[in-house]
Amino acid sequence: MREDGLLATAQTEEDVAIEIGLRPRRLVEFVGQESLKERLSILIEAASGRGEAVDHILFSGPPGLGKTSLAAIVAAEMGAAFRSTSGPALDRPGDLAAVLTNLQPGDVLFIDEIHRLPRQVEEVMYPAMEDRQLDIVVGKGPAASSIKIDLPEFTLIGATTRVGRVAPPLRDRFGYVARLDYYGFNDLASIVERSSHLLECRTDAAGCHTIARRSRGTPRIANRLLRRVRDYAAVRADGVVTAEVADVALEVFEVDEAGLDKVDRSILEAVIVKFAGGPVGLSTLAIAVGEDPETVEDAYEPFLILEGLLQRTPRGRIATEGAYRHLGMEPPQSSPPIDQGTLL
Ligand SMILES: Nc1ncnc2c1ncn2[C@@H]1O[C@H](COP(=O)(O)OP(=O)(O)OP(=O)(O)O)[C@@H](O)[C@H]1O
Ligand SMILES: [Mg+2]
Repeated sequence: MREDGLLATAQTEEDVAIEIGLRPRRLVEFVGQESLKERLSILIEAASGRGEAVDHILFSGPPGLGKTSLAAIVAAEMGAAFRSTSGPALDRPGDLAAVLTNLQPGDVLFIDEIHRLPRQVEEVMYPAMEDRQLDIVVGKGPAASSIKIDLPEFTLIGATTRVGRVAPPLRDRFGYVARLDYYGFNDLASIVERSSHLLECRTDAAGCHTIARRSRGTPRIANRLLRRVRDYAAVRADGVVTAEVADVALEVFEVDEAGLDKVDRSILEAVIVKFAGGPVGLSTLAIAVGEDPETVEDAYEPFLILEGLLQRTPRGRIATEGAYRHLGMEPPQSSPPIDQGTLL
């Protein structure tokens, strides 16, 4: 994590290790997303009843909402092995062929960031998903020949933060496409409570709620905030995470009441101050705040847009009146005039 409290991205090794420890292992441990869980459990029960692998599944949604966790849960519920790779790691068709030919019957193959699979690799994926066939070309030029290999039955689970970037022919080959949405406060509070048990950290209900309210709808952030608050409670209070302790601790770590961190606020401030409220293009904005465009677009913007602080228009990003107010600034005069009638 960056010094300036970047909450939505960049993980240290310690973060990753703790995150793995906090990851729900079974469907019943996975908090929230009720209708998605119901549909998944139907898919799982039906497939295991038939003694088949579950149909291919695609999970989409912003970072930290539980896509990887759910993929591993599907494998665990099926009693299947979980083999994990990612779009950028499968650089050439041969990389994917190697992974596919090593699968055992029933395995779950998880491909993270599946929108980043190169086109030629994607093409190897189509017959593998549809007919469990691997078509590979051996040799080059006139001597080239193609061989077909039968693959074992397997389940492909893809995850993406950008469903719009998954090529339609690939997307259409998934039997179930599920979108994860931001979590409500009650679910986040349950996640904080669950994690505090696992981390052996004492919290009360109000403390869990305070952390939940500032977690921008994201379990990963809820868990990170909990750890920061736990540190504060240990050294500056009596170890118990109450609402007061959480409030003060989060102020120390510069997470505000809306759950915005320094980077979120610098994005809004840049649009308002440097670009006169916008519109400003994504890459210009990203440079202004020292982040890469993809991080701004995937990790920060969705929540700022959801909160009504930022608008995405064809001409660029615009700060809303709410953004000015959030930063304690006056919105510009061009905003709709106050209805005089209501003032009288
Ligand atoms: N519904 C949930 N219940 C409990 N904990 C959860 C839930 N969803 C996510 N988490 C926690 O949040 C962490 C992040 O989840 P996960 O890694 O599955 O997200 P992701 O969607 O794969 O993110 P990314 O897009 O960055 O890969 C997990 O370690 C887990 O502890
Ligand atoms: Mg993931």
